[in-house]
Amino acid sequence: MKVLIVGGGGREHALAWKLLQDDPRIELVAAPGNPGIAALGRCEPVSATDVPALCALAQREQADLVVVGPEAPLELGLVDALRALGMPAFGPTRAAAAIETSKRFAKELMLAAGVPTAMARTFTDAAAAKAEVRRLGAPVVVKASGIAAGKGVIVAMTLEEAEAAVDAMLVDNAFGAAGAEVLVEEFMTGEELSIFGLTDGTHVLPMIAAQDHKRIGEGDTGPNTGGMGAYAPVSIAPQALMDETVARVFTPTLRAMRDAGCPFTGLLYAGLMLTPRGIQVVEFNCRFGDPETQAILPLLGSSLLAPMLAIARGESLAGAAPLQWKPRAAITTVLAAAGYPGTVRNGDVISVPPTPRDVLVFHAGTKRDAEGMLRTAGGRVLAVTALAATLAEAREASASFAAQVQFDGKQYRRDVGWRELARRARAS
Ligand code: AMP
Ligand code: GLY
Repeated sequence: MKVLIVGGGGREHALAWKLLQDDPRIELVAAPGNPGIAALGRCEPVSATDVPALCALAQREQADLVVVGPEAPLELGLVDALRALGMPAFGPTRAAAAIETSKRFAKELMLAAGVPTAMARTFTDAAAAKAEVRRLGAPVVVKASGIAAGKGVIVAMTLEEAEAAVDAMLVDNAFGAAGAEVLVEEFMTGEELSIFGLTDGTHVLPMIAAQDHKRIGEGDTGPNTGGMGAYAPVSIAPQALMDETVARVFTPTLRAMRDAGCPFTGLLYAGLMLTPRGIQVVEFNCRFGDPETQAILPLLGSSLLAPMLAIARGESLAGAAPLQWKPRAAITTVLAAAGYPGTVRNGDVISVPPTPRDVLVFHAGTKRDAEGMLRTAGGRVLAVTALAATLAEAREASASFAAQVQFDGKQYRRDVGWRELARRARAS
């Protein structure tokens, strides 16, 4: 069987690793891949956003399965184009990807379907948006509707900050087309959870819940990043909460997508907040999360390949066995380059010692130079996942290996999982 993975980050390395665990005979091709993935298969120098070239590659390779990692090719219609060629592709169509790429679409769908989420209204006119900001009062949240490289959400603690965000998006065009429509949303409080569901458009196989750390600094301080670490399992997501998430979030959302004429197949990522009013959806993503995937997949005891193939082939998941989880804990520590999340310095030499048992190193922003030396080539460079019987042991192993990886300017957090560890300490 030949599998083509589109993308070249830590998430795609983890997907490649897991699919090969499921079936070591897989012939793996990645576009563009990275040096970590190159140890598992063949990397082709095709950009993850070049839809015609990706289609040509998939056809040339006669891939039995194409797995699309990032949202950008999904938004560009890669899955539509592959399906038109009769190729089995895992991921939503462009229309279904709108659940991530248009916050307006997602919000209207959720509110109409009764999915629990914060109230919000959409504006294109700055004066009207500011009137709504004043009506709601601070704190209040202003969001660019489109994809704004993770910077399009302003959680404003004051009216001035919220009005400035409205002006930046609607008057100064700071986010371009992504900010031409803004949502003004009520402020919520609570812990956030990431829950992924594999879906054929109707049925869902939920994965265990994870939490990630978005801030660069220990104690969750400093600027936002793409994610500095993740961990699973999470004790605030017992089975009852998972069942509730399927019943109140996944099932009605998938039904509403079918009713809207754009059934969602692939991996639906529900970003939830556990508020005093109960679970609320903060956002949906139309793909696996990064770095949660690097923590979750090593805990998956059953096959990922089987449900992915079924979904890509358009088969039903009715009657599919639930996913099986190893009774272990995983902590993923992201190692970021100098300057991240601001302007990143590339080209620092990386040295990775041999990995101990139960430690996995996933590559993200790495590159081999002409001499074969591994160098930094992006903001998030590596993700170090450690598995152990307890979260505390996993954290120790992950942080200690992260300390041994060397490159100039390395930044990482030693406190990944601190909320969960504090919770467990309180409970005992
Ligand atoms: P999003 O891109 O929609 O996930 O938003 C990014 C982050 O902003 C979320 O992970 C939350 O931490 C925060 N956020 C988004 N919406 C709200 C809200 N209504 N109230 C409080 N925080 C929010
Ligand atoms: N970890 C957040 C994301 O993948 O969007």
